[in-house]
Amino acid sequence: MFLTPLMKRLENEQALDDAVESARSTVNTVLPPGPVKDVLHGRPLGHALHPLLVALPIGMNVGATLLDVLGDEDDRAAARRLVGAALLSTVPTVASGWADWSELGSAKRPMRVGLVHALANGAAAGVFAASWVARAAGHHRTGAALSMVGLAGLGAAGYLGGHLVYAQGVAVSRTMDHEPAPREWTDVAAAQDVGEGLVRVDVAGEPVVLTRSGGVLRALAATCTHLGGPLDEGTVEDGCVVCPWHGSRFDLADGSVERGPASVPQPAYDVRETGDRVEVRARP
Ligand code: FES
Repeated sequence: MFLTPLMKRLENEQALDDAVESARSTVNTVLPPGPVKDVLHGRPLGHALHPLLVALPIGMNVGATLLDVLGDEDDRAAARRLVGAALLSTVPTVASGWADWSELGSAKRPMRVGLVHALANGAAAGVFAASWVARAAGHHRTGAALSMVGLAGLGAAGYLGGHLVYAQGVAVSRTMDHEPAPREWTDVAAAQDVGEGLVRVDVAGEPVVLTRSGGVLRALAATCTHLGGPLDEGTVEDGCVVCPWHGSRFDLADGSVERGPASVPQPAYDVRETGDRVEVRARP
């Protein structure tokens, strides 16, 4: 398949790195980590927002082109409105994409692919904007032709987006195959070994991080849902564990995301002290 070597070349294209750094710095200046960026990451949803939003401009632009091809003159106004609505929906879609992309840290290969994905989408949006202007000026055929060019651009950008998610694992929870096990209380550590620091143990093949926060034992899956950072190498702050890679904060009590870029909660375990031992079990 010729696309695979092409994508390998793109992933390894170091000539993009200056543009990546400059774009990342701009995005992080405009969109610093905080509540707005967390919404764009999808924290309130419990998973990434961007894949949900991309359906809007794609669906509306496809709908406009179907009206162009299958409809008649009475459908032209509706097609123009669809192209306009798609342009408006591009704003939050782009913002959520840039927000996720800017938090990929040192992962250079998805950063390069993501930059080209964004540029292709930006070019497509420019063509759709030209289509809307042509339609508004009464040049329907030009507008329809431009929409088709824009759809080709969206298709190319969509391919790159698919590569980011399905080949490179961006915006995919790194605990997605986490099985809630074991159901029974399981001995994992000596009580004296678990203090206010972070301790990594193995529970039924899963790395789990233990700590004593405010005197209460806590246990979370140790692999960060964002991009797999080792939470046991992070820090504890105000009842949360902070990932050492990109700073996501998870509430130690239940694994909920207190700050992104993670949007998927961290699996939490029940934990208890029995005699001089610490036991955990999967939370139902
Ligand atoms: S791996 Fe990115 S915040 Fe944990």
